Amino acid sequence: MRLVDACRLDPVDRTPVWFMRQAGRYLPEYRAIRERYTLIEICALPEVTLEVTLQPVRRYDLDAAIIFADILLPLIPMGAGLTFAKGEGPVIANGVDSAGDVERLRPVTVEQSLAPTLEALRLVRAELAPDIALIGFAGAPFTLASYLIEGGSSRRFLRTKRFMYNEPAAFHALMEKLATVTADYVASQVAAGADVIQLFDSWVGWLGPDDYREFVLPHMPGIFAAVREAGAPSIHFGVDTGGLLGLMREAGGDVIGLDWRTSLAAGWAAIGHDRGVQGNLDPGVLFAPHDEIARRTRAILDQAAGRPGHIFNLGHGLTPETPIDSLRVVVDTVRSNGTSR
Ligand code: CP3
Repeated sequence: MRLVDACRLDPVDRTPVWFMRQAGRYLPEYRAIRERYTLIEICALPEVTLEVTLQPVRRYDLDAAIIFADILLPLIPMGAGLTFAKGEGPVIANGVDSAGDVERLRPVTVEQSLAPTLEALRLVRAELAPDIALIGFAGAPFTLASYLIEGGSSRRFLRTKRFMYNEPAAFHALMEKLATVTADYVASQVAAGADVIQLFDSWVGWLGPDDYREFVLPHMPGIFAAVREAGAPSIHFGVDTGGLLGLMREAGGDVIGLDWRTSLAAGWAAIGHDRGVQGNLDPGVLFAPHDEIARRTRAILDQAAGRPGHIFNLGHGLTPETPIDSLRVVVDTVRSNGTSR
């Protein structure tokens, strides 16, 4: 599989390409399913999860399918109470505001509580062409902790930081609990058929390097070790992490995901060429004219310079407004220009 080879820094015939949030609302066939099921219902029904996971792979010539799920699902069996409110995003009913709240979070038996996603992975792997990789994923502890503490999405993560600085022991205990669940979850996903695991630490870039080292780094290596022991490579992604790349390398991951604020060449140099990189087209470029999309795509491939270990992707997830034809331009451009030597 091209994606797995690239994660292991083996040469590939063409640069592998997939898109974060490639299943979702920009696709009319996804919107049709969403008329009948809520997001949480889709995730609870393996047959429906199978269908939405395959939708982008049917439409585009991609190197990977990513299992349809959400990073917040493991918070449900922990007792957090998750709903998705229309227009507001996720809402956590029983969030974390004290050391006692951290203690009350329940341990999770992944095989039981996240059974639908694991079953969906088995179904997708059986259905998917053998050369297309299946990506499993999970949220990283900091990003999950931020949802628990903020009670939902946040702009500046001030509650999270207040808790972190005022209750450092409880914050570490929370990170530890989340890391344990995450390590079990990603290992189970590999056992169920995931070929690669992506760990989303989407919001960790809101921390400075000293805080990353103190509050995040100690909780990360165990998760990547669990993926490795299960037999799969890993991709470690965050947004606005230009100042954290060296620390993320230390934290682990065979491939580090870059957003578009760092140039691919500079980001890869900062990480070191003995690791892979994934990225990093600005999802906003998908709203440009097609020749400009192609030019920007080639510019990223030029920066990768044919080095093994580049996975083409966006710098962050697709937005629901994305014109569906734009993705075909990216895929075709990567297909005709991307080769590692
Ligand atoms: O193809 C795919 O990538 C689909 C699988 C997927 C979903 N969420 C489904 C989903 C993945 C990989 C995620 C990850 C996720 N979820 C992240 C990390 C990725 C990133 O963007 O950095 C985060 C932070 C979440 C939490 C989350 N889920 C939020 C904040 C929201 C609401 C905002 C929004 O985009 O509407 C969701 C809902 C969600 N999860 C949707 C999808 C397709 C949109 C919802 C819908 O159909 O109602």
